[in-house]
Formats: sequence, C-alpha cells, structure tokens
Amino acid sequence: MPRKTKEAKENGVSGGAEGGQAKNADRVEPDSIDQQPSGSRGSTMTPQTVMELAAHLQSLTTGTAARDLNSALSHQYNFWNTQPVPKLNEVVEENTHIEEDLQADQIRSEPFSLPDAFEWSDVDLNDVAQLTELYTLLTENYVEDDDNMFRFDYSADFLKWALLVPGWLPQWHCGVRAKATKRLVAFISAVPQKIRVYDKTKQMVEINFLCVHKKLRQKRVAPVLIREITRRVNQQGIFQAAFTAGVVLPKPVAVCRYYHRSLNPKKLIECKFSSLSPKSTMLRTIKLYKLPDDTKSTGLRVMEKKDIEGAHKLLNCHLEKYNLAPVFDQKEFEHIFLPRDDVIYSYVLEEKGQITDMISFYSLPSSVMQNPQHKKINAAYSYYNVATTVPFKQLMNDALIIARKAGFDVFNALDLMANKEVLEELKFGIGDGNLQYYLYNWKCPEMKPNQVGLVLQ
Ligand SMILES: CC(C)(COP(=O)(O)OP(=O)(O)OC[C@H]1O[C@@H](n2cnc3c(N)ncnc32)[C@H](O)[C@@H]1OP(=O)(O)O)[C@@H](O)C(=O)NCCC(=O)NCCS
Repeated sequence: MPRKTKEAKENGVSGGAEGGQAKNADRVEPDSIDQQPSGSRGSTMTPQTVMELAAHLQSLTTGTAARDLNSALSHQYNFWNTQPVPKLNEVVEENTHIEEDLQADQIRSEPFSLPDAFEWSDVDLNDVAQLTELYTLLTENYVEDDDNMFRFDYSADFLKWALLVPGWLPQWHCGVRAKATKRLVAFISAVPQKIRVYDKTKQMVEINFLCVHKKLRQKRVAPVLIREITRRVNQQGIFQAAFTAGVVLPKPVAVCRYYHRSLNPKKLIECKFSSLSPKSTMLRTIKLYKLPDDTKSTGLRVMEKKDIEGAHKLLNCHLEKYNLAPVFDQKEFEHIFLPRDDVIYSYVLEEKGQITDMISFYSLPSSVMQNPQHKKINAAYSYYNVATTVPFKQLMNDALIIARKAGFDVFNALDLMANKEVLEELKFGIGDGNLQYYLYNWKCPEMKPNQVGLVLQ
C-alpha cells in the first residue's frame, strides 16, 4: 500500500541539522533572531526571549517539533505557550476567542526585529522573478517526509492560485531576505477566509507556506515569522487564523489522516513511495489498481464560468453539515474552483439547469530525491466534493479516473468530510502520519475528522 507522499505535510518537518554548521552570510545567531520589539534590540532580553533562547538550546539536542501526542506532552512549547492557543491537555467546552480583539493603538506599528544580516521583504507574486524566487525557496526547503525522500513541489502557478485570492494583501506574502545577497531565505503567508466553527462564523486568515531555509533552521526564525504575520493580520482587524501542520502543537482542533490511492503503482513502487506486497507481483498490483477508461456519472463535465453560481450554492449548503468549514463568497468560489491547467480541476453534474454534484482536486507534485529513475511524483489531492444525485463513491471513483487520465500517479485524500466512508472500498491505503488542524486565538471542543469540512492547500 502507498506509505508516503507530499503528505509529508502530515509528517512534519525534517532536515535542519546542517543549520548549525552554516558559515556564510545567511547565518543567524540564535541570540539575535528571536529579539522582540525592534526598540529592544541590543538591550535587556525579555523573559520571553530568554525562554525561547533556552528552548533553542534544548532543541539542539532534542529536536524542535513533536510529531505525536506523547512526545508533545513532554515538549516545552516556549513559543507556543506564549500564544493565545489552548494548552495541550486543556479540555475545552466553549466556542469562543481566547484574547479580545485589539484596538488599533494596541497593535505594534513596527515590524518585529530581525538580526542585522536580514530584512523583511514582501514577495510580489505578480513579478515573475520574485515568484520564481519563492518557488525556488519552497521547492528546495519546504515540507519533506520523515525519510527525506520526497519534498512538496508547489508550482509557481499553484502559488499564484493559492495566494492571490480575492482580498489578498502584498504584506501578507511576507518574506525574509539576506541583506547582503538579497536572497529569499524565509517566508510565511496569510490569505483572508471566512470560517465557521460550530455555530460561529468569523473573518479569519489561513496561514500557509511557512518555510525557513535549511541553513537557518532551529534558530527560532519561525516564531519571528509567526509573530510578524500575526501583527500584519491584526493590523487589518483580524484576530483569528486557521492552519494545519504535521507537528503537534498546542492544541489541535482535529487530527486527520491522509490516504493514498495508487494510480500508477509501478512508478510509485520504483520511487519507493509504496512497496510491492511480498505476496504480490508487479503485474498483479498493476491489475489491482487498474481503473475503467471512462467515468460512470453520466454528463460529468469540466466546471465552467456559467456553473459558478449553482456550484457555489451547492457547496456552501453542503458545508453546513460540518463543524469547521469555510464560507466562500461567490467571487472566492470562482477564483478557487474555476479550473486551471495543472493546478485545480473541478467537474460538475447538471440536471435541468441545476448543478447537483461536484468534484475537485488540486495538483501538488513532490520531488523525488536521489532516485535514478524518477524526479517527480504527480499527486492529485482531493479538495471539495458534493454528491446529491449519484453515490459519493461513484463520484470519487470518477475523480480517480479523471486524475489517472490527466497523468497523475497518486490520488491523496484526507479522512475528513464523508471521505472515510469510501476510501477503503476505492483502494486507498492509509498514510503514515497525521495532519493536525489548528485555530489561532480560538478555543472550541475537539472534533472528529468527519466533522471537518475545511481543506487547506
Ligand atoms: C517549520 C519550520 C519553518 C520551523 O522552523 P525551525 O527552524 O525548524 O524551528 P525554529 O527554531 O525557527 O522554531 C521552533 C518553534 O517553531 C515551532 N514550529 C515548528 N514547526 C511549526 C509549524 N509547522 N507550525 C507552527 N510552529 C511550528 C516549534 O514548535 C517551536 O516552537 P516551541 O518552542 O513553542 O515548540 C522549518 O522547519 C521549515 O521550514 N520546515 C519545512 C517546511 C515546513 O514544514 N513548514 C510547515 C508546514 S506546516
């Protein structure tokens, strides 16, 4: 069965050991990177800074991030313990903010300070050169699986799709550059999204693409990035955020699992993404995963502009079933779901002028490292699906058929919404890690994966 993928997002972070040996202009001194207000640089360290420095020293021997609840319970969250998030062992019964919204004059007006060798720099994704720089940073340094065999390879077009959503702001594409070389060495982003948690809908942001160059790892750069994006988001009057991570932090609102459906088993086995069962042969495995040539749902077709209004209503109505879900407006829906080659694939069924069913998946390849035969795995990720006139299993199988024909090697899906009910029958195999869902400055009761209706890229 498949056992790995860019699911690495589940597996948390890896690499970084070489950070301690960095001997160039990119080097960040641990005692300088985590400074608080710019004004305090060079002056007395705050207790918070001291705690984080202690955490840094501890991390040199123990590693930074916990990957399961057990190790998380004994981990010292020197940064996260200062943030408005529930404690790991806290049982939450309310559904409400943790800290009150700040007044404009309570929000820092100056950026958090970076060491002298570095500077903040918004990344302009409409500038091809800067888009390429971000692509390169992520493609060389973003999420890997535990064994460092695969690394997410978000395409430049994907980054534009995911980050230039309606309402995007240039300062929410927050980069860090080395002053001397102008090289982009770290990044974090926010995009606006209304999100409903149980019975409360809030304007939030989704935080994504947190990345620190491998040479700058374990030097407490991530907390500075998180503080700075929080400040920039607060400046717009927004005080809540949603994000996902493979690592365990205080405190997941839900814990989901990726499942993988082989579409090109031979290639996946050659890449060591999955392995041949000892009781099987390559031929038998290929036969096992073979899919029909044609989709089964009559009339299934690519989503077009004319379908947006109907499909938008269909999805928003469907998402009311879940305890955590985005609330898309029509403009957002159009941006997100109108198909884009090699980025987002959306299909609909129409009956008497009504959109009755939809499926969607996005394209997120993974680089295959150190494999003589293959450089890339083409992975499709299940996104938002609604079945009302055909069985959900049939619709998902149609998605597999379309993805196979489009050249994808594997189809990945989380066990959220109603997915779990059909995954096994459709020959998905369970992945080897969790994807935790988090809310910032919000506490609410935990939920099961099938109560989650939010998919982040
Ligand atoms: C994630 C990443 C930015 C963290 O940077 P780092 O250099 O390893 O860690 P730093 O020393 O800067 O900071 C450590 C703090 O960040 C926290 N942290 C680590 N990964 C995190 C994540 N994905 N989200 C939020 N916080 C995270 C740690 O828990 C620690 O805080 P704590 O003291 O409260 O436990 C870096 O490892 C990276 O770029 N990894 C590859 C990309 C990736 O995994 N991105 C996250 C996608 S979800």
